[in-house]
This record gives sequence, structure tokens and C-alpha cells, in this order.
Amino acid sequence: MHMRTLFEEDPQRFGFFSRRHGPMLLDFSKNRITRETLHLLVGLARARGLDAARAAMFNGEHINVTEGRAVLHTALRNRSDRPVMVKGKDVMPEVRAVLERMRRFSDAVRSGDWTGANGTPIRDVVNIGIGGSDLGPVMVCEALKPFAGKGPAVHFVSNVDATHITETLKNLDPATTLFLVASKTFTTQETLTNAHTARAWLVEELGEQAVSLHFAALSTNADAVSQFGIDLENMFPFWDWVGGRYSLWSAIGLSIAVAIGFENFETLLDGAHDMDEHYRTEPLEENLPVLKALVGIWNQNFLGARALAVLPYDQYLHRLPAYLQQADMESNGKSVTLDGMPVDYATGPLLFGEPGTNGQHSFYQLLHQGPETIPADFIAIAQSHNESGEHHDILLSNVLAQAEALMRGKTAEEARGELVAQGLEGEALEALVPHKVFPGNRPSNTLVIERLDPRALGMLIALYEHVIHAQGVIWGVNSYDQWGVELGKQLAKKILPELTAPGAVAAHDCSTNGLINHCKTLRGR
Ligand code: F6P
Repeated sequence: MHMRTLFEEDPQRFGFFSRRHGPMLLDFSKNRITRETLHLLVGLARARGLDAARAAMFNGEHINVTEGRAVLHTALRNRSDRPVMVKGKDVMPEVRAVLERMRRFSDAVRSGDWTGANGTPIRDVVNIGIGGSDLGPVMVCEALKPFAGKGPAVHFVSNVDATHITETLKNLDPATTLFLVASKTFTTQETLTNAHTARAWLVEELGEQAVSLHFAALSTNADAVSQFGIDLENMFPFWDWVGGRYSLWSAIGLSIAVAIGFENFETLLDGAHDMDEHYRTEPLEENLPVLKALVGIWNQNFLGARALAVLPYDQYLHRLPAYLQQADMESNGKSVTLDGMPVDYATGPLLFGEPGTNGQHSFYQLLHQGPETIPADFIAIAQSHNESGEHHDILLSNVLAQAEALMRGKTAEEARGELVAQGLEGEALEALVPHKVFPGNRPSNTLVIERLDPRALGMLIALYEHVIHAQGVIWGVNSYDQWGVELGKQLAKKILPELTAPGAVAAHDCSTNGLINHCKTLRGR
């Protein structure tokens, strides 16, 4: 079937295949589905136990079976009076207590009441973390820049490449810089290496006694934090039931609170809570995350698409694809089911993206005319923070046009007609026709959000989180562990001393030996 025909046959298609929730409209009508497909997909979700699985997550059951943990990022933004029980204990009082500490700390830093070792207010805050301890906070701080007001500048250092920290510290003054060391485990090599470098930079200028005024830790590991030399007074804790890639709502979000103010951070939580309640309580047929998850499953497992392009038409959302890469691919990039059996179907998509319109001048060629079908999520924001002349209407016209183009395509007859109108004829015309044809029938979702504010962003992120949950349930995988990151870490630990010791290395396969030895030669070892 071609979607052109589906639209011609059903003028109510947009109404039937779109849903609104608060400031958000999800149009999923530009997918290769009929009313029957949707009905069957909802049946699939039901048969896979999605109703019970939603409840199990919100109720704190140990759904992360390989680590024996609950998955309760929803408790971090539980703005209701509902208790959330973990091992028979309501965790909400602790959650609220940490939020209160975050409020006091971020207020003090933003107002200038928190002063450094020389008694001067903090002008720059550097979050040191990687993966979930970086991507969420960076993405949100970028997305909500218009809400920053007069707070300090917030910087992010993640890469163990010294270039990252060197370039960041280059223009900063230790006396007015505060470091937030963000690490759930407080054992991550990159983060600890960067944190030690930052500490040395600070101590060289201000001395050891300055550390307690210039370092705070966001972590679950108090022992490692105090071993590093950070005052536990300056440690903001969270819990093992918060997964790294779901942690921006926890103490890991302190950089966000400092960047945009605590009230805006709370509004972000409100928005996420609103989406949580929607996901938890709405019937599957009306449930935005469920519907989006099902359309994703349809495209992946029934139509054979292996990728998902996330295309936010908003410059402030420029880190959203990178954030979602971790959220989705680290969660659902699995090939065994919960009981350890190999899957014989595709799981998490290869997720990539760029903000529009930049992507249009880059990889969209492949989306429109490549041999594979790559579904896309278009994200449009109706009201810009920066209305200026025609800019925003141009932006919107592009996002709407791209979704239409992917759906409609251009037939050989249409291409021929255009070439004739341009004065071409005969062989020259016919030679060009196949290059000008667009197959169309390429699926996309369009999310339209009224305005990019903390509440809407909270909803948007929670929407994607729940899509990941729903898809993980249908695929029968554990979305909440990430053992796949371990092997590379283990091998790097082995290679590190080999790189620095004298002499040739012969302990690996010949490719790895060859590369190690080549690098050693180039580094004079
Ligand atoms: O290596 C993957 C990972 O464990 C992610 O899941 C996590 O977000 C990141 O590393 C950082 O971990 P931590 O917050 O413990 O430093």
C-alpha cells in the first residue's frame, strides 16, 4: 500500500491517527498503517502484558532483573502525594529531602551567596560526568537556555580526551569556578580522571582547603566521594533504582537547577510527571507513548526498518538526538530476552539525528531516495523564543514539507511533467526521470509542541522514556541494564599499562598488537 492512497481514501486519517496531550500533538498518520493495523498492534501490546508491565514499573517491582533493582525515575518527579514503595519503604520523603537541598544549593550559587575560597561569588559551574551523568543535563541546559536568567555559566566536561577539560578551563578562574562531579557509581574512569585534573588545577591556585567550597558530588557512592576528598555535606545522593540514562531528574540534574533556577527545574519535573500519569493511566489506544512505541515496532519488526531519525526543528534541541541515542540504544540494544533466550527479531533502532533544517542539507538525501526506509520523528515547536521576521515560518514550512515529501514522494509522471515544463524532451528527459523520482511512502511521526518551556520539555523527555519502556516490554528485553558497555572497559584497562610500558606488545590478536605497537612507536615508547 502507498500512503498517498491511504490519505486519498480516508480524509479523516489525521483525526484518527493523531492525539493531543497538553501542549503536545502527536500525528502518526504518516505511517503505513490502517485502522486495523492499529487495532492489531494494540492487541499485540496487550498480549505482551504492557498493562501489567506499566504498573510493575510504577509500583517499584524489580523489573531490572539482571541487577535486581526497581526502575523508579518516575518517583523522582512524583509530584503527587502517592507514596512510592521500595522494599517496603516509601522513598518519597528522601526524594523530597534531596530536592530541598538542591533548591538551597542552586539558589545560593545563583544568587551569589555561595562564595569560593576568596569570598567571591561563583561565575562558572563545570559539570564533570559522562553518559547519563552528562547527556541529559547538557541537553536540557541547551534546550532551556531562554530560562537561564542571571545565573552562572554552566559548562560540561565529559570526554577523557584532555582537550575537553583543557579547553573548558582555559578561560575560567579557579576562584569563581565550582565543579559538580556527576557520577552514579563514582568509579567511571573518564569522570574521575577529569575530576582529578580539575582538582589539581584548583588546588594549584587556591590550595587544598579550597576543595570543599569548589567541589560538589552527585552520586550514589558516598565512600568513593569522600575518598576523592569531597565533603559529604556537598554530596547530593540518589539511589540504585535510578538508571544513569534516566537520572537527569535526580541530583544529577543539579547543573540544570543551577543553570535555569530551581523553580524551572521543578516545572520540568511537573511536565514529566504529567506524562507519567498519562502513560500510567490512559488506555493503550489513547496513550501517546504506547501509540508511538507501537508504530515504532510496526516499522522495525513488520516493515524491516532498522533506524530512526530524530529531527528536532528547534536549535535549542540540538542535543536531543545525542541524548536519545543513549536513552534508547543503551536501553533496548539487547539481543536476549529477560530469561536469557536469544531474540530472533530486531530490537532497539539505530537512532541518529540533527536539528532541522541543518539535516536537510546533509543526510536527508538518503532518507528521500536511499533504498532503505528510515522512519523519522519530526519535532516542531509552534511558537519560537526568537520570533524574528520570517525565520520561524520558514522553519515550520520546512518541517511540514519534509514529512509531506517523505509520505507523498514524486512519481515518474510527476517528475516527467516538471522536466517538460523546464523545456526538456526526448532522451535527455528520459535519462533524468529515474533520478528525479522519489518513492515516498516513508513513515514519519510529527510532534507539534506549543512552546519549548520546562514543562513541555519534561513531557517530551518522559514521552521518549516511556516509548522505550513500552517497546522493551513488547520485545521482552531488560531495558534497564547495559552489560554491553563492560567488555570495552575491561580491555581498555588491560591495554592502558601496555601502552605505557617499554617494549613491543604481543598479547592480543595481530591487529590489536599491530595498532598498539604502532601507537607506541608514534608516542616514542
Ligand atoms: O558506561 C555506561 C554507563 O554506565 C552509563 O550507563 C552511565 O550513564 C555512564 O556510564 C556514567 O556512569 P556514572 O554515572 O556511574 O559515572
